[in-house]
Amino acid sequence: MNYRHAFHAGNFADVVKHLILVRIIEYLKRKQAAFRVLDTHAGIGLYDLKGDEAGRTGEWVEGIGRVLDAGFSAPTAELIVPYFEAVRAQNPDGGLRFYPGSPLITRHLLREQDRLFALELHPDDAEKLRENFAGDIQTRVTHLDGWAALGTHLPPKEKRGLVLIDPPFEQKGEFNRMVAGLVKAHQRWPGGIYAFWYPVKDPHEIAEFVDALERTGIRRSCASN
Ligand SMILES: C[S@@+](CC[C@H](N)C(=O)[O-])C[C@H]1O[C@@H](n2cnc3c(N)ncnc32)[C@H](O)[C@@H]1O
Repeated sequence: MNYRHAFHAGNFADVVKHLILVRIIEYLKRKQAAFRVLDTHAGIGLYDLKGDEAGRTGEWVEGIGRVLDAGFSAPTAELIVPYFEAVRAQNPDGGLRFYPGSPLITRHLLREQDRLFALELHPDDAEKLRENFAGDIQTRVTHLDGWAALGTHLPPKEKRGLVLIDPPFEQKGEFNRMVAGLVKAHQRWPGGIYAFWYPVKDPHEIAEFVDALERTGIRRSCASN
Protein backbone atom coordinates (compact mmCIF):
# COMPACT_ATOMS: atom_id res chain seq x y z
CA MET A 1 0.00 0.00 0.00
CA ASN A 2 2.08 2.88 -1.31
CA TYR A 3 -0.71 5.28 -2.18
CA ARG A 4 -0.90 8.33 0.08
CA HIS A 5 -3.81 10.63 -0.60
CA ALA A 6 -1.93 13.52 1.02
CA PHE A 7 -0.06 14.01 -2.28
CA HIS A 8 -3.32 14.54 -4.18
CA ALA A 9 -5.67 16.11 -1.64
CA GLY A 10 -7.72 18.98 -3.04
CA ASN A 11 -6.78 18.32 -6.67
CA PHE A 12 -9.36 18.69 -9.45
CA ALA A 13 -10.44 15.05 -9.09
CA ASP A 14 -11.06 15.57 -5.36
CA VAL A 15 -13.09 18.68 -6.14
CA VAL A 16 -15.36 16.82 -8.58
CA LYS A 17 -15.69 13.80 -6.27
CA HIS A 18 -16.43 15.89 -3.19
CA LEU A 19 -18.96 18.06 -5.00
CA ILE A 20 -20.87 14.94 -6.01
CA LEU A 21 -20.57 13.60 -2.46
CA VAL A 22 -22.02 16.84 -1.11
CA ARG A 23 -24.92 16.84 -3.58
CA ILE A 24 -25.86 13.24 -2.70
CA ILE A 25 -25.80 14.02 1.02
CA GLU A 26 -27.84 17.18 0.53
CA TYR A 27 -30.33 15.06 -1.42
CA LEU A 28 -30.55 12.57 1.45
CA LYS A 29 -31.18 15.48 3.83
CA ARG A 30 -34.42 16.37 2.05
CA LYS A 31 -36.08 13.75 4.27
CA GLN A 32 -35.97 13.93 8.06
CA ALA A 33 -35.32 10.20 8.45
CA ALA A 34 -31.77 9.33 9.50
CA PHE A 35 -29.24 8.04 6.99
CA ARG A 36 -25.79 6.50 7.11
CA VAL A 37 -22.71 7.11 4.98
CA LEU A 38 -20.25 4.25 4.59
CA ASP A 39 -16.90 5.58 3.33
CA THR A 40 -15.00 2.43 2.37
CA HIS A 41 -11.64 4.07 1.48
CA ALA A 42 -11.61 7.08 3.75
CA GLY A 43 -8.01 8.31 3.84
CA ILE A 44 -6.87 10.35 6.86
CA GLY A 45 -9.66 12.92 6.80
CA LEU A 46 -7.70 16.18 6.94
CA TYR A 47 -4.80 17.34 4.77
CA ASP A 48 -2.29 20.13 5.27
CA LEU A 49 -1.92 21.78 1.86
CA LYS A 50 1.28 23.45 3.02
CA GLY A 51 2.62 20.14 4.33
CA ASP A 52 5.39 18.11 2.76
CA GLU A 53 3.30 15.78 0.58
CA ALA A 54 0.77 18.29 -0.82
CA GLY A 55 3.53 20.87 -1.09
CA ARG A 56 5.65 18.56 -3.23
CA THR A 57 2.99 18.01 -5.91
CA GLY A 58 1.06 21.27 -5.58
CA GLU A 59 -1.93 19.49 -7.19
CA TRP A 60 -4.40 21.37 -4.99
CA VAL A 61 -3.45 24.69 -6.64
CA GLU A 62 -5.27 23.65 -9.83
CA GLY A 63 -8.13 22.13 -7.83
CA ILE A 64 -9.60 23.68 -4.71
CA GLY A 65 -7.09 26.54 -5.09
CA ARG A 66 -8.82 27.62 -8.29
CA VAL A 67 -12.45 27.30 -7.28
CA LEU A 68 -12.76 28.33 -3.63
CA ASP A 69 -12.78 32.06 -4.33
CA ALA A 70 -13.92 31.95 -7.94
CA GLY A 71 -17.18 33.66 -8.95
CA PHE A 72 -20.10 31.41 -9.89
CA SER A 73 -23.58 32.17 -11.19
CA ALA A 74 -26.22 32.18 -8.44
CA PRO A 75 -27.76 28.76 -9.32
CA THR A 76 -24.31 27.11 -9.42
CA ALA A 77 -23.16 28.84 -6.24
CA GLU A 78 -26.20 27.51 -4.42
CA LEU A 79 -25.21 23.94 -5.28
CA ILE A 80 -21.56 24.45 -4.32
CA VAL A 81 -22.01 26.39 -1.06
CA PRO A 82 -22.23 23.34 1.28
CA TYR A 83 -18.92 22.06 -0.12
CA PHE A 84 -17.17 25.39 0.30
CA GLU A 85 -18.56 25.68 3.82
CA ALA A 86 -17.07 22.29 4.68
CA VAL A 87 -13.68 23.47 3.40
CA ARG A 88 -13.89 26.84 5.16
CA ALA A 89 -14.84 25.13 8.43
CA GLN A 90 -11.32 23.64 8.46
CA ASN A 91 -9.82 27.09 7.87
CA PRO A 92 -11.49 29.22 10.53
CA ASP A 93 -8.85 31.95 10.26
CA GLY A 94 -9.57 32.41 6.55
CA GLY A 95 -7.35 31.43 3.63
CA LEU A 96 -6.79 27.88 2.51
CA ARG A 97 -4.36 25.78 4.49
CA PHE A 98 -6.30 22.62 5.36
CA TYR A 99 -8.41 20.49 3.06
CA PRO A 100 -11.04 18.06 4.40
CA GLY A 101 -11.22 14.62 2.85
CA SER A 102 -14.44 12.73 2.20
CA PRO A 103 -15.08 11.69 5.84
CA LEU A 104 -14.71 15.22 7.23
CA ILE A 105 -16.80 16.73 4.43
CA THR A 106 -19.48 14.14 5.12
CA ARG A 107 -19.28 14.78 8.84
CA HIS A 108 -19.70 18.50 8.34
CA LEU A 109 -23.01 17.87 6.59
CA LEU A 110 -24.53 15.26 8.92
CA ARG A 111 -27.47 16.11 11.13
CA GLU A 112 -27.82 14.82 14.68
CA GLN A 113 -29.68 11.70 13.55
CA ASP A 114 -27.20 10.68 10.81
CA ARG A 115 -24.11 8.46 11.08
CA LEU A 116 -20.79 8.00 9.32
CA PHE A 117 -18.80 4.77 9.17
CA ALA A 118 -15.31 5.35 7.80
CA LEU A 119 -12.92 2.53 6.86
CA GLU A 120 -9.22 2.78 6.14
CA LEU A 121 -6.82 -0.11 5.62
CA HIS A 122 -3.43 1.58 5.91
CA PRO A 123 -2.51 1.34 9.61
CA ASP A 124 -0.90 4.81 9.91
CA ASP A 125 -3.71 6.48 7.97
CA ALA A 126 -6.35 4.64 9.98
CA GLU A 127 -4.71 5.93 13.16
CA LYS A 128 -4.70 9.52 11.89
CA LEU A 129 -8.30 9.15 10.81
CA ARG A 130 -9.22 7.88 14.25
CA GLU A 131 -7.48 10.87 15.85
CA ASN A 132 -9.42 13.24 13.59
CA PHE A 133 -12.70 11.80 14.86
CA ALA A 134 -11.77 11.21 18.48
CA GLY A 135 -14.77 11.68 20.77
CA ASP A 136 -17.25 11.94 17.90
CA ILE A 137 -20.22 9.75 18.73
CA GLN A 138 -21.75 10.05 15.25
CA THR A 139 -18.71 8.61 13.49
CA ARG A 140 -17.12 5.21 13.72
CA VAL A 141 -13.62 4.75 12.31
CA THR A 142 -12.49 1.20 11.59
CA HIS A 143 -9.14 -0.15 10.44
CA LEU A 144 -10.56 -2.63 7.96
CA ASP A 145 -10.64 -3.63 4.30
CA GLY A 146 -13.32 -1.45 2.72
CA TRP A 147 -14.22 -4.17 0.20
CA ALA A 148 -14.98 -6.60 3.02
CA ALA A 149 -17.20 -3.98 4.66
CA LEU A 150 -19.54 -4.17 1.67
CA GLY A 151 -20.48 -7.57 3.05
CA THR A 152 -20.15 -6.99 6.79
CA HIS A 153 -21.46 -3.43 7.21
CA LEU A 154 -24.58 -3.54 5.03
CA PRO A 155 -27.44 -2.97 5.29
CA PRO A 156 -27.28 -0.20 7.88
CA LYS A 157 -30.05 0.02 10.41
CA GLU A 158 -31.06 3.46 9.10
CA LYS A 159 -32.14 1.84 5.77
CA ARG A 160 -31.18 5.02 3.87
CA GLY A 161 -27.81 6.27 2.83
CA LEU A 162 -24.73 6.28 0.69
CA VAL A 163 -21.73 4.06 0.13
CA LEU A 164 -18.74 5.98 -1.20
CA ILE A 165 -16.14 3.69 -2.80
CA ASP A 166 -12.92 5.53 -3.58
CA PRO A 167 -10.06 3.05 -4.02
CA PRO A 168 -6.52 4.20 -4.85
CA PHE A 169 -6.23 2.30 -8.16
CA GLU A 170 -2.68 1.25 -7.35
CA GLN A 171 -3.43 -2.43 -7.97
CA LYS A 172 -4.75 -4.06 -11.12
CA GLY A 173 -8.33 -5.21 -10.98
CA GLU A 174 -9.96 -2.25 -9.17
CA PHE A 175 -12.65 -1.94 -11.86
CA ASN A 176 -13.52 -5.61 -11.43
CA ARG A 177 -13.52 -5.25 -7.65
CA MET A 178 -15.93 -2.32 -8.00
CA VAL A 179 -18.40 -4.32 -10.08
CA ALA A 180 -18.16 -7.36 -7.79
CA GLY A 181 -18.42 -5.08 -4.74
CA LEU A 182 -21.53 -3.40 -6.11
CA VAL A 183 -23.21 -6.73 -6.83
CA LYS A 184 -22.46 -7.98 -3.31
CA ALA A 185 -23.53 -4.74 -1.63
CA HIS A 186 -26.66 -4.35 -3.75
CA GLN A 187 -27.81 -7.85 -2.83
CA ARG A 188 -27.56 -6.92 0.83
CA TRP A 189 -28.86 -3.39 0.46
CA PRO A 190 -30.76 -2.72 -2.79
CA GLY A 191 -32.05 0.64 -1.52
CA GLY A 192 -28.60 2.15 -0.97
CA ILE A 193 -26.95 4.79 -3.10
CA TYR A 194 -23.50 3.77 -4.38
CA ALA A 195 -20.91 6.24 -5.65
CA PHE A 196 -17.62 5.06 -7.16
CA TRP A 197 -14.60 7.12 -8.04
CA TYR A 198 -12.48 5.90 -10.94
CA PRO A 199 -9.79 7.46 -13.11
CA VAL A 200 -10.84 8.50 -16.58
CA LYS A 201 -7.70 7.46 -18.45
CA ASP A 202 -8.24 4.45 -20.66
CA PRO A 203 -11.48 4.72 -22.71
CA HIS A 204 -11.43 1.00 -23.49
CA GLU A 205 -11.20 0.06 -19.79
CA ILE A 206 -14.04 2.42 -18.94
CA ALA A 207 -16.26 1.08 -21.73
CA GLU A 208 -15.70 -2.43 -20.34
CA PHE A 209 -16.54 -1.20 -16.85
CA VAL A 210 -19.76 0.41 -18.05
CA ASP A 211 -20.69 -2.78 -19.93
CA ALA A 212 -20.00 -4.85 -16.83
CA LEU A 213 -22.18 -2.50 -14.77
CA GLU A 214 -24.99 -2.88 -17.29
CA ARG A 215 -24.66 -6.65 -17.22
CA THR A 216 -25.27 -6.65 -13.46
CA GLY A 217 -28.87 -5.69 -14.26
CA ILE A 218 -28.78 -3.08 -11.49
CA ARG A 219 -30.88 -0.22 -12.75
CA ARG A 220 -30.59 3.54 -12.36
CA SER A 221 -26.84 3.71 -12.71
CA CYS A 222 -24.83 6.28 -14.59
CA ALA A 223 -21.15 6.65 -15.45
CA SER A 224 -19.33 9.84 -16.25
CA ASN A 225 -16.28 10.19 -18.48
C1 LIG B 1 -8.19 7.85 -2.86
S1 LIG B 1 -7.77 7.62 -1.19
C2 LIG B 1 -9.21 8.08 -0.32
C3 LIG B 1 -9.55 9.52 -0.34
C4 LIG B 1 -10.79 9.87 0.42
N1 LIG B 1 -11.91 9.01 0.07
C5 LIG B 1 -11.18 11.31 0.17
O1 LIG B 1 -11.95 11.58 -0.77
O2 LIG B 1 -10.73 12.19 0.92
C6 LIG B 1 -7.81 5.87 -1.02
C7 LIG B 1 -7.52 5.38 0.40
O3 LIG B 1 -7.87 4.01 0.47
C8 LIG B 1 -6.96 3.37 1.33
N2 LIG B 1 -7.07 1.93 1.01
C9 LIG B 1 -6.42 1.20 0.07
N3 LIG B 1 -6.91 -0.05 0.01
C10 LIG B 1 -7.92 -0.11 0.92
C11 LIG B 1 -8.84 -1.12 1.31
N4 LIG B 1 -8.83 -2.33 0.73
N5 LIG B 1 -9.75 -0.83 2.27
C12 LIG B 1 -9.78 0.40 2.86
N6 LIG B 1 -8.94 1.40 2.53
C13 LIG B 1 -8.02 1.14 1.57
C14 LIG B 1 -5.64 4.02 1.05
O4 LIG B 1 -4.73 3.84 2.13
C15 LIG B 1 -6.06 5.47 0.84
O5 LIG B 1 -6.01 6.19 2.05
